Amino acid sequence: MKKIYASMISIGAYAPEKRLTNSDLEKMVDTTDEWIVKRTGIKERRIAAANEATSDLAFKAAEIAIERSGLAKNDIDMVLVATLSGDFLFMPSTAAVLAGKLGLKDTPAFDVLAACSGFIYALATAKAYVESGMARNVLIVGAEVSSRFMDYSDRSVCILFGDGAGAAVISATDDPARAIVDVKIAADGSLWDFLTIEGGSKNPDGKRVMTMKGNETFKIAVRTLTNDVIEILARNNLDSNAITHFVPHQANLRIIQAVGDALKLAPEQVVLTVDKFGNTSAASIPMAINEIYESGRLKTGDLMLLDAFGGGLAWGSALVRFAGK
Ligand code: COA
Repeated sequence: MKKIYASMISIGAYAPEKRLTNSDLEKMVDTTDEWIVKRTGIKERRIAAANEATSDLAFKAAEIAIERSGLAKNDIDMVLVATLSGDFLFMPSTAAVLAGKLGLKDTPAFDVLAACSGFIYALATAKAYVESGMARNVLIVGAEVSSRFMDYSDRSVCILFGDGAGAAVISATDDPARAIVDVKIAADGSLWDFLTIEGGSKNPDGKRVMTMKGNETFKIAVRTLTNDVIEILARNNLDSNAITHFVPHQANLRIIQAVGDALKLAPEQVVLTVDKFGNTSAASIPMAINEIYESGRLKTGDLMLLDAFGGGLAWGSALVRFAGK
């Protein structure tokens, strides 16, 4: 029997219109544009409209990705949504709501919860389903309206996050040249209290807002991501020169630069959207891939190195050859 490979055949994204700039935040909390730009690289982020839920953003990104894949909606045989800010608290899943919006009535759909690393976890899941023959065309989406879970009086967190969605179609192919090369995911739950949103069974009365041990997370993120990308390159016998685009999670420009420097990447290899979207959690990687796609930088066959890190703690990296047109 011929081996089946999983392949990323399209990308799409949606960013809500409303912009929240650093000068807007200066009026809300004790901060300055200068501090935010210097410490994070963020200039503005997008905020969903009052009538937009996470599945609405996901739907817009998904429609673009499906259209660009050349498939019909009914060809999608699995829907995965990575999010930490779903439409509902736990039930129903945002993936089920999205599948309904897409008109898919008999399709497995479930959420993947791995915070900012969710898109890479969804990619790993899609790859496994496709390669095992259990699915042929998986829609994976990273979508967040994390602004609904922000404490806009906590300057150490609220300046970082924005809303948005990105989607990709992962399809079966027998051509190894189009395949996702490798995906690597990991978690260390002993550090669960580094990033939290309370209100679940552990503390149902807890405030449903994001908390973060920023400085500690920063240090572990740099160390873990650097080791992780070095490992995934090594286990695939690749040098960082082979990477056309390094597409990291867009949490903080300084984290991205530290990992980029460790890999000795040239600036043109590093994809940055953190300045205009901030940290859109699970949406940040597909939104960044979409950015280079729409600007014409991403070509068929280009090798992308993805990496992400966030609450869990959970992290992951992937080597993906773009097989879209
Ligand atoms: N404006 C002005 N000052 C601020 C501020 C803000 N928005 N937020 C925090 N500060 C202050 C702190 O109160 C502290 O003041 P002090 O020295 O008087 O106590 C000082 O700035 C330094 O705080 P610190 O938290 O050590 O800053 P930092 O350099 O670590 O930057 C983050 C803070 C949040 C930007 C950074 O830690 C970070 O990006 N963390 C990781 C994010 C991440 O990767 N998350 C995982 C994925 S979601």
